[in-house]
Order: sequence, then structure tokens, then C-alpha cells
Amino acid sequence: MDLQQAREEIRRADREMAALFERRMAAVRAVAAYKNEHGLPIEDKAQEARVIARGCEQLKDEALRPYYVRFLQDTMELSKQLQRQLISGRSPSGAGSARLTMELGERSYDIIVRRGCLQEAGSLLNLDRKVLIVTDEGVPAAYADALAAQCRAPQRCTVAQGEGSKSLPVLERLLEMMLQAGFTRSDCVCAVGGGVVGDLAGFAASSYMRGIDFYNIPTTVLSQVDSAIGGKTAVNLGGVKNIVGAFWQPKRVLIDPDTLKTLPSRQRSAGLAEALKAGLIADAQLVSLFERGETEARIDEVILAALRVKKAVVEADERESGLRKILNFGHTIGHGIESVTGLLHGECVALGMLPMCSPEIRARLLPIYETLGLPTQVRADPEAVWAALLHDKKAHEGAISVVRVNEIGSYCIEDMAPAALRPLIDLVVRP
Ligand SMILES: NC(=O)c1ccc[n+]([C@@H]2O[C@H](COP(=O)([O-])OP(=O)(O)OC[C@H]3O[C@@H](n4cnc5c(N)ncnc54)[C@H](O)[C@@H]3O)[C@@H](O)[C@H]2O)c1
Repeated sequence: MDLQQAREEIRRADREMAALFERRMAAVRAVAAYKNEHGLPIEDKAQEARVIARGCEQLKDEALRPYYVRFLQDTMELSKQLQRQLISGRSPSGAGSARLTMELGERSYDIIVRRGCLQEAGSLLNLDRKVLIVTDEGVPAAYADALAAQCRAPQRCTVAQGEGSKSLPVLERLLEMMLQAGFTRSDCVCAVGGGVVGDLAGFAASSYMRGIDFYNIPTTVLSQVDSAIGGKTAVNLGGVKNIVGAFWQPKRVLIDPDTLKTLPSRQRSAGLAEALKAGLIADAQLVSLFERGETEARIDEVILAALRVKKAVVEADERESGLRKILNFGHTIGHGIESVTGLLHGECVALGMLPMCSPEIRARLLPIYETLGLPTQVRADPEAVWAALLHDKKAHEGAISVVRVNEIGSYCIEDMAPAALRPLIDLVVRP
């Protein structure tokens, strides 16, 4: 075959391949519709292995096998991309139900937001293996019970409620439980609870046997709108928050807003502060929901909108090398307040956001806080807050990078001299 003939042959093959590709993708569309309808995961490693094995059997030229495997892998990657695009954000079974996909290459995962999805965990997660269910004493036991009932081999660890459980001794307890129960690389950990349980269980999953699958079923507003996605896991050490941890993305996140029915209203409001944060930096419509006092009635929408903001930021900067820092809006002063008061994390973030907004926006936020019962000021020693902030930022000298909001739905990052930051604390902390 000369060059001319070879090129003609390639053109013919490409024409046939284009037609075959269209046929294949039409079938992929049908698969996506089925998976969407039945809540099945997009990724199916066993099926992919079967496709490759079958493909290799059909190939006559052995020397081409590695190339063909690569070709099939690329084709399946495209199929998954199409499925994600078709399924992402679409409601599989009516209103109040959505599936987002955190697009992080091979660490991509689905986030399902649906009332009642905790009861469907058996079909949405792979629970046909050993599962360490991590929950805390404040989370109604019925939630972990519902999950355990759908697992083949559940192990349950119920830790004390509160930040104190994000510690090395409690982490050790979880790891020992897995070791004693003979957990292997193919088993998994599932958190059922708020951000404390999620951060702790996620870190345990990241470190056991150098990392096993992790599922998150968040049950507080804060964890549903924010902490359950993004892959930050950690425990505290020596009084320093989140100082020992890992980036470890979950394999899937199930968000069942029905679980919020039992959450005390103070916890709800504190969690909503993180959703408001997302709106202030990136979604003016979400802030409008707050201004109209509709967050309770439209909590599912609030959750989705906040998740969309976080998802986009994490996709752009998974490991917080830049953009992801905008999610720390309100946290610089907020963390300082958290260190010296007994306020909840979300309440401190709410306070921390106020000085970082323009005076006009601050004035618009105050009625929102009042409606939600969030503090607009706190009694504490401003100097102690200041000292904690500097310790947190390890920045006695040099500039501190902060996020500011001068227009709702957008942000700017500013390097502030520590001295310029100090008076801002007085806006929300009174001795
Ligand atoms: N990983 C991240 O990206 C990230 C982001 C923000 C915050 N966090 C972390 O999240 C933690 C705070 O999370 P949180 O606000 O969810 O607190 P939390 O986990 O302590 O939960 C708050 C309280 O609510 C109880 N609870 C949980 N679900 C309940 C339910 N459905 N009904 C009744 N009670 C329930 C818990 O027992 C607990 O007492 C902090 O440790 C913070 O550092 C992590």
C-alpha cells in the first residue's frame, strides 16, 4: 500500500468510525438516562474492565493491544463526560432532587441532593462490603441506623459530639476499629453527621491503608451547604484547628434535607451563614433569598446554590493554591473570634464577614442576621481576638491576604497590613 492508498484507507476508516462513534454515544445517552432514573453511579469500574477484556478478545493483532486498550479507555472517558453533562444538575425524580458532579478528573464524584436519599443509600452507594459508619452522640441515631440497615457488614463508631472529637485519640479509635474488624483497601468509611464527623471520618479514610473509599452523608446545614464537599479532612492538635489533615475527596455525597428537621435552630442559622457567604462572594440571587426571608421555605434551593458556588471554586483550585481562599471569606476575623468565644463556627464566620463588606452591604446584612438570630456583635476582648488572629495567620509582620466584598456576588482579594486589620475587629467585638 503506498502513501496515497494508506491515506485513503485512513479516511475511509475515519468515516466509518465517525458513524460508529455516533452509534456508541447514542447508546451512552440511553445508559445515562437509565442511570439517572435509577440513581446509579456514572463510574462503573467493573463494567469498564469488562469492556476492555471483551475488546482485547476481539482484536486480532496482539501488537496493537496496548494501543487499543488506551483507545477504549479514552472512549469510555468521553462516554462518562457525556453522561455527567447529561445528568449533572438534572432532576431524576421530580422537584427538590438534583445531582451535581464535582469534576476533578479521576477524583470526580456525584453529589446527590434529594429528600429521602438516606433511605436509598443501598442503591446509591456501594455498601456491599465492610462499612465503618462514623456518627456522633448528638446526631439522631435513626440516621446511622437507616444506613446500617442497608449495609452488608456495618461497623459503627459513635463519637462524642463537638469539636473535641476532631482529635488524634478519636482518630486512633476509628483506625483501630477498622484494623480489628479486618478492613481492607476495598472497604469504606461513611460519615453520618455534621462537619465534625465528616472531617474526622474523612481523615480516617484518607489514612487507613494509605486511603480507602469515603462517603459523606451530611446532616447539618453547615455540612450540607459546605463542608461535605471539597475533600478537606482534618483533626485538631495542640489547640490548633485542622492542623493535621489531608485532601481526600469523597466517592459520593448524599444530601438528604429531611435530616435537617431535627437540627436545633441555632445550628441551622449558623450553617446558613456559610451559605450566605457563598452568595456574597459569587451568587447575588442566593443573597436575595436571604433578604426575602425565604431560606427556611426554600432550603433545598439554598443548599444547591451554595454547593454550586463551592463546587466551581474547588474544581478550579482543588488544593487551595489560590482561588479556593475566597471560601475563607469572613474566616480571618471569624477564626480569631472562634478561638476566644464559645460561639459556633458559622456564627463566628457571620461576624467575621461584616467588617469585610462595604458599609452599604453591612447595612443590608444586619436585618438578615436579625431574622436568622445570628449575632451582629459579640462581647469579648478585642485584643485577645487580635492575638488569636495573628497566631492563626502566623503573620506578625508582612501583609495578610483577606477577601472583601464591595458588591454582592463578587469579591476582591486584598493584602492588608496587620495594623489596618486591627480596627475592623472593633466593629463586631466589644469588650
Ligand atoms: N472540611 C471542610 O471543608 C469544612 C468547612 C467548614 C467547616 N468545617 C468543620 O465543620 C465543623 C463544624 O460542622 P457543623 O457545624 O456541622 O458542626 P457539628 O458537626 O459539631 O454538628 C453540630 C451539632 O449538631 C448535631 N447534629 C448533627 N446533625 C444533626 C441533626 N440532623 N439533628 C440534630 N442534631 C444534629 C451534632 O451532634 C452536633 O452536636 C468544624 O469542625 C469545622 O472546622 C469543615
